[in-house]
Amino acid sequence: MLRQISPGVLSETHAIAITCPPSIGVYKHVLATRPSTDKLAMTSYAIIGASRGIGLEYVRQLAARPDSTVFAVVRNAQKSIHLQAAIKGLKNVHVLEADVTDYKSLEEAAKKVSEVTGGKLDVLIHNAARMDMSVFWKGYDDFASMEELDADFITSFKTNTLGVIHGISAFLPLLRRGTDKKIVVISTGGADVRNIHRQGAAGIAAYQITKCAALMATTKWASKLQGEGFVVVSLAPGLVDTTGTIGEHGDSAAHDAMVAAAEGFVKKGMSVVLETPEQSVSNQLKVVDGLKPSDNGLLLSHQTGKELWP
Ligand SMILES: NC(=O)c1ccc[n+]([C@@H]2O[C@H](COP(=O)([O-])OP(=O)(O)OC[C@H]3O[C@@H](n4cnc5c(N)ncnc54)[C@H](OP(=O)(O)O)[C@@H]3O)[C@@H](O)[C@H]2O)c1
Repeated sequence: MLRQISPGVLSETHAIAITCPPSIGVYKHVLATRPSTDKLAMTSYAIIGASRGIGLEYVRQLAARPDSTVFAVVRNAQKSIHLQAAIKGLKNVHVLEADVTDYKSLEEAAKKVSEVTGGKLDVLIHNAARMDMSVFWKGYDDFASMEELDADFITSFKTNTLGVIHGISAFLPLLRRGTDKKIVVISTGGADVRNIHRQGAAGIAAYQITKCAALMATTKWASKLQGEGFVVVSLAPGLVDTTGTIGEHGDSAAHDAMVAAAEGFVKKGMSVVLETPEQSVSNQLKVVDGLKPSDNGLLLSHQTGKELWP
């Protein structure tokens, strides 16, 4: 079906490559689509937003499982330098390009997954979100103008909220044919209205409001898919220092801001620990592995696997 033509990008099977790809020459489309028997026994995972941070760590940890096929969905494969380094030489990781604000690109990515798996996907991890540190911490009156505020909110809504609807829609036909039927949307404690009220938190406006809407979008999917054997959950990853994979060498100012945020939470009496992506994703995967039908529609904690704030 697909043959590897650059490191870490789409691995072999048993067919003939015939054409070149649309975007950056990453893929070759091929004729045969019948999966081999061993592929049917494997669990397939797609991680949307896998270039860096938590998404990258999902790829790393899932790829280490001998029975996994992992699809890393990124906006730009060539620029995903941390991902490319992490998956070098791995045959069970396939890199696909899609932007969650561009539905057609997600459909194309789903088509490529289908070509590898024979039409199915077992687990979808929707991780992509706009975490632009230059605007992330802003409250309403931190913007230079209302136009600037509007622009930040609209971009955040498209990525964080509509992106969840788009991501799940595009992969749903494959997930319906999958075995596990698990959909996990990476959420945040900051999406929970009661939590924000308790904290008296006025900042991080565009991100938290659009993640709050994403929580509702995920809950709607859970309601819609309830009768089909799906488990659709939102999963809070804790406070995770993902600043090491911003840019080529990490972002020390963003790291300092993260540390300060963690200290601020502790001063408010909250038991918050700043975790590494390795620690957080290791716990998140325990939750994903253990998902059960009664979890459908819940916002879960990565530490307990139970409702974040029941
Ligand atoms: N870190 C934390 O403490 C924390 C806490 C609570 C919740 N979360 C949640 O955890 C998830 C990951 O956060 P993170 O800290 O790992 O963030 P990150 O390091 O900024 O990574 C965000 C990822 O989303 C991708 N992305 C952004 N816009 C996209 C788009 N339009 N289409 C496709 N992909 C897009 C980015 O790709 P590019 O490289 O192309 O930009 C990147 O791979 C997010 O959902 C976030 O809300 C994080």
